[in-house]
Amino acid sequence: MTLERERARLVTDLVAAGSLGDDWRAAFEQVPRHEFIPGTVWQVSEAAGGRLLPLRRDTDPDTWSKLAYRNEPVHTQVDDGNPPVEGGWEVTSSTSAPSVVATMLHALDAEPGMRVLEIGAGTGWNAALLAWKVGAENVTTVEIDAQLVIQARGSLAAAGLGKVTVVTGDGTLGYPDAAPYDRVIATVGIREVPYAWVAQTAPGGRLVAPLYNSYHQPGLLTLAANGDGTASGRLSWPLSFMGTRAARVPRVAPASIVGEPAVTGETDLHPRLWGSGRDAAMAIGQRLGDGVRLQWQKGTAPGQGTVWLFDPASRSWASVEAGEEPPRTGCGRAARDGCSTRWPTPTGGGARPANRRSPTGRSQSDRMASGSRCRTDRIRTCSSSPGRCGLGVVSCRTCRSRSAAARRAPPAVPGA
Ligand SMILES: C[S@@+](CC[C@H](N)C(=O)[O-])C[C@H]1O[C@@H](n2cnc3c(N)ncnc32)[C@H](O)[C@@H]1O
Repeated sequence: MTLERERARLVTDLVAAGSLGDDWRAAFEQVPRHEFIPGTVWQVSEAAGGRLLPLRRDTDPDTWSKLAYRNEPVHTQVDDGNPPVEGGWEVTSSTSAPSVVATMLHALDAEPGMRVLEIGAGTGWNAALLAWKVGAENVTTVEIDAQLVIQARGSLAAAGLGKVTVVTGDGTLGYPDAAPYDRVIATVGIREVPYAWVAQTAPGGRLVAPLYNSYHQPGLLTLAANGDGTASGRLSWPLSFMGTRAARVPRVAPASIVGEPAVTGETDLHPRLWGSGRDAAMAIGQRLGDGVRLQWQKGTAPGQGTVWLFDPASRSWASVEAGEEPPRTGCGRAARDGCSTRWPTPTGGGARPANRRSPTGRSQSDRMASGSRCRTDRIRTCSSSPGRCGLGVVSCRTCRSRSAAARRAPPAVPGA
C-alpha cells in the first residue's frame, strides 16, 4: 500500500472510531505525517530486555511506513539523541498517536487566523496540522531540544509551512515575544499549569494541556482564560504523555532501593481493585512528590504479581504481593453508562484488560466493603530516611502510623 493510501485508511479509521471530526479531517488528509517522521525511529525490544532499538526506513521501509500511519505514537528520539549502541532506555520525543492529536486539536477549537502557541514541537507534525488550519504565520512552537528544532524546521519548510516559528527554549516559560495567543496547546505533560501560559493567553482564549505526574497520567486539561489573570476549566479524557524535560525522573532499579528490612501487613484488597479508581489515582498522584513510581511485576499465574511503589528521593518503598486474581466483574464507580476497570501497566508493562461492564451495577467499593472474594495479599512498607516518607498515601516505619494509615488508605493503582 502506498503511503498516501495508508494515510487515507488512517483517516477513515479515525473518523469511523469517532476520534476525528469534520473540524480537523481535511488537515489530517492533507498533512503527510510520514514526512515529519525521521528515517530512524525506535521500538521497544523485549528480546533486548526492554531496550529501545532503532528501526530504519532505508533497511525496513515497509515496517517504517506502517508505523507512520498506525494509530500509535512513534518514538522519534531516545535518551536525548544519545542512546548507547546496545539501545536506548528512555523515549525523549515522539509523535503522538493520531487519535490523541485529533482529540487535543478538537479540544483546542482553533479557527483560521487565530494565533497559536504550541509547547513541544517534536517532529513538527502537530504544528503543521495547526498551520494548515490557522495559517503558518500564526503558529509558534517551542521545543527544548535544539536538534529537534532543526529537524522540525526542516520538515515544516519542506511541507511548504516554513512560516511557522520554531523556537528553541523551555516552553514552560511560553514565548512572550509573540504573545498574546488565542490558543495555547502543550504536547508535553505538565504537573502544574505554568502561569506564563495563562498570562500569554488572550482574554477568552483557550489552553489545552495533558496533566502528568510520575505516578499516574490524569488526563487532558482544557482551560479558558478569564481575562482577569485567571483561567479555569476541566479535566477530561485519560491520556498518557511524557513529562517536560525538567520533570523527568531518573531511572532507578527498584532493587537498588528495595531490600531493607520491611514491615509486613495484610490487606483484603487485591491491587486490581485499587486500580479501578482513576479519580482517586489522580488525586493521589497530584499530591505525591515528583518521582514516586509505580511498577507492576508479573507473577506466574494470571493476575498474580507484585506492585512496587517507590520514591528514589526518600528511598521509601512499598510492595503488595497479589495473590489470586479477583472476580473480573464490577467497576470503580457505580455504573451509569458502563465503566472500565483497569489494571496497571506502569513501567513494568503488565497486561491491559479490556473494558468491562458491571453486570450487577454494583460498585467495586461495595464489593470491597462486603469483603470480596479476593484473597488476602501482603503489604510491605519501608523507609530508610527517618521523617522523609515520600509515599504520602502509604505509610512506612518512619511515618510511625503504618498500620492505621495502611488500613485506611491503601495506595491506588492507576491504569494505562
Ligand atoms: C510528545 S513530544 C511532542 C510531539 C510533537 N508535538 C509532534 O507533533 O511530533 C514532546 C516534546 O516536548 C519536548 N519538551 C520536553 N520538555 C520541554 C520543555 N520544557 N519545553 C519545550 N519542549 C519540551 C520534548 O523534547 C519532545 O520533543
